[in-house]
Amino acid sequence: MNALAITLHGLAATVWVGGMFFAYIVLRPSMSLLEPHRRLTIWAGVFKRFFPWVWMAVFVLPLTGYWLVFGAFGGFATSPIYIHIMHGIGLLMIALFIYLYYRPYAALKNAVTAESWPEAGEALNRVRHIVLVNLVLGLFLVAVVYAGRYGLFS
Ligand code: HEM
Repeated sequence: MNALAITLHGLAATVWVGGMFFAYIVLRPSMSLLEPHRRLTIWAGVFKRFFPWVWMAVFVLPLTGYWLVFGAFGGFATSPIYIHIMHGIGLLMIALFIYLYYRPYAALKNAVTAESWPEAGEALNRVRHIVLVNLVLGLFLVAVVYAGRYGLFS
């Protein structure tokens, strides 16, 4: 069961952090030459397809993470420091995604449907900032886990 939990945990983290990396670092500069209405419509479509996968990660990561903490590490009291760092950063990333989904992303969808391009542009900018914060947090978290496993904090 622990083997299944760590497999799902690793896959969910890969999909979420890798997806943000691709969107921010690769797709964003590639779309900068498009006219605003096309760019904003494409971004709304990109998020519509990517965010269900992020929701999957938002459920799978804590579920499998707590399973491993209590099933493999004997609880938080006996877990190494990198697990505590992952736990804190993970919860922060999840809270930021939920805020992003229900505020700026909802505003982006409404503005694109109404073809209000200046509002859509503002909403996209707010989505972009939060994705950047979550991308940096996610990459840092993954680095902390792998380096922590090989004794960085001990
Ligand atoms: C929300 C609470 C979370 C808890 C309680 C948790 C807990 C854990 C535990 C116990 C492990 C196993 C560590 C080991 O075997 O040494 C682990 C591994 C890992 N976690 Fe988390 N985690 C959480 C969130 C996250 C998030 C949000 C991400 C990334 C977005 C993440 C990425 C990873 C990665 C990349 C690994 C290593 C997987 C591998 O073995 O390749 N975790 N986590």
